[in-house]
Amino acid sequence: SWTTGSIVEEQVAAIRAQVGDKRAICGLSGGVDSAVAAALVQKAIGSQLTCVYVDHGLMRKGETEQVEKDFVAATGANLKVVDASERFLNALARVSDPEEKRKIIGREFIRVFEQAQLEILQEDGPEVAFLVQGTLYPDVVESGGGTGTANIKSHHNVGGLPDDIEFELVEPLRQLFKDEVRSVGAELGLPDEIVQRQPFPGPGLGIRIVGEVTRDRLDLLREADAIAREELTTAGLDREIWQCPVVLLADVRSVGVQGDGRTYGHPIVLRPVSSEDAMTADWTRMPYDVLSKISTRITNEVKDVNRVVLDVTSKPPGTIEWE
Ligand code: XMP
Repeated sequence: SWTTGSIVEEQVAAIRAQVGDKRAICGLSGGVDSAVAAALVQKAIGSQLTCVYVDHGLMRKGETEQVEKDFVAATGANLKVVDASERFLNALARVSDPEEKRKIIGREFIRVFEQAQLEILQEDGPEVAFLVQGTLYPDVVESGGGTGTANIKSHHNVGGLPDDIEFELVEPLRQLFKDEVRSVGAELGLPDEIVQRQPFPGPGLGIRIVGEVTRDRLDLLREADAIAREELTTAGLDREIWQCPVVLLADVRSVGVQGDGRTYGHPIVLRPVSSEDAMTADWTRMPYDVLSKISTRITNEVKDVNRVVLDVTSKPPGTIEWE
């Protein structure tokens, strides 16, 4: 529309004025906000932008490829992908506590991202002076409104750099609400799978495995989650459902009978919720035949899963995620 088009034009001009002929870095999370912010900055300054995607190995099926292929195809952005899944899995070994998992994932993420920033700083080319962030209007209001700078410290064995590098922030979505961000993303040619994406937590599948996070468990949960998402999309429920965490109860086993014998596997929980803002939520009364299809497919197709259960708790008292 004209309004969306004018937002894009205005922001492109503002970004060009701010960045000049210097370079900028943008971290992509796989989420809507960082993708749209990056696409806007890319439109404004092209190859002066480098995007960084840290693959922590905790994404759902196809999500990393969406960033690596679809985002790059739609924007032409320079993308640096860091495959850090081994590192995250090692750091998460033997950890079951949800807050401990969050702390570890957050810490490793910052370390890997800073290392990537330092590598970009060492490349030939104009000074890297800017960090792009997908801050939205509601985030600005919540945090009291200031614009800012971000520091990175060169404490990870990279020589020849100043001790402390300061970036100026570029935040082209600061005046926008979520629905406007989606329109801007669509205007910039980003695919629907990126622009209409439902919320997904930063720590990813790491907080959807109740118990220790291992590669096998992640693979299994990714399969179950992909089946649930596929069937929900086929049934046309993506708008009605705010998000539907699929959770692996890795520390629980239950008896089943499959094929010619008794099995002793794990349950998968489906947590479809309806919500406006994730602060409160209700469990979605979704059609039984869709639930049935998901259950049949998951128990048939996913090894070691012999039971699918439905979470019928509102928030409060239950949170949306299980951890
Ligand atoms: P809860 O489970 O608190 O979730 O009802 C509310 C919303 O926040 C998401 N969520 C997270 N997002 N990092 C994130 O970026 C996190 O650690 C995290 N935990 C929960 C959740 O998916 C829901 O949309």
